[in-house]
Amino acid sequence: MGVLFKVEGASKRFGGLQALSQVDLTIQQGQVAGLIGPNGAGKTTFFNVITGLVPADSGRFELAGRPYEPSAVHQVAKAGIARTFQNIRLFADMTALENVMVGRHVRTHSGLWGAVWRTSAFQKEEAQIAATALDWLHYVGLGALASVRARTLSYGDQRRLEIARALATDPLLLALDEPAAGMNGTEKQALRELIVRIRNDGKTVLLIEHDVKLVMGLCDQVTVLDYGKLIASGSPNQVQTDPLVMAAYLGTAAAKPNAEPPHV
Ligand SMILES: Nc1ncnc2c1ncn2[C@@H]1O[C@H](COP(=O)(O)OP(=O)(O)O)[C@@H](O)[C@H]1O
Ligand SMILES: [Mg+2]
Repeated sequence: MGVLFKVEGASKRFGGLQALSQVDLTIQQGQVAGLIGPNGAGKTTFFNVITGLVPADSGRFELAGRPYEPSAVHQVAKAGIARTFQNIRLFADMTALENVMVGRHVRTHSGLWGAVWRTSAFQKEEAQIAATALDWLHYVGLGALASVRARTLSYGDQRRLEIARALATDPLLLALDEPAAGMNGTEKQALRELIVRIRNDGKTVLLIEHDVKLVMGLCDQVTVLDYGKLIASGSPNQVQTDPLVMAAYLGTAAAKPNAEPPHV
């Protein structure tokens, strides 16, 4: 145990909009940490900042006891953070296996010239990458669909494929942006079991999720954002009864008469 990932004072402004304002977050090794909050609260921006897709205006970051500077996407993966996207980002015309192989390439060595000359070291490594990628497909329950094009997979399976691709980079921290969105009850239950297995296998997970049942049942700690600010953080039970959190969700619902009932 110990701290795996620590963020202090992360801020990000888009024009006149303060999307993140001095957000702190500490995640213990081996835990599932939840990040929740109404739509537009800054959750995805937080992921974009820690994975280098969007440069932070300020913030100190620490991963596995070392200073961590979010930079280019492949550097982030090498440092040990992998993520999935709220809007699925797969290579739609590549097979499931090929999509996971792309993730695995982060951890390989042959490089460009090996690929151009198809050296024996390169070919051996490709076979190894394919084998490892297939293992990850089995791990997420997609082993039978390895040769299927990503675009023809069901929505739920595409989300699992994104998780397999992220896992193939051997991350210390797996960051999932609304992985249950669009899933039915059975798929959600399977996703929940998958996240528990990932945690039991020693990985640390940061989860953005709207489904309160999933968050309450899965997360060891929950952080709540509203308008870019951290408004609560603690155990799922503490957070659920926090007046600021209730007001944030009720405020959102009240502002939009047709909005879904509050999730928390
Ligand atoms: N690249 C961007 N440019 C301008 N505004 C952005 C950008 N990304 C996010 N935002 C704005 O920042 C706020 C937070 O968005 P986001 O992080 O996606 O929220 P959440 O994931 O919590 O729903 C929103 O108001 C959104 O419109
Ligand atoms: Mg989002």
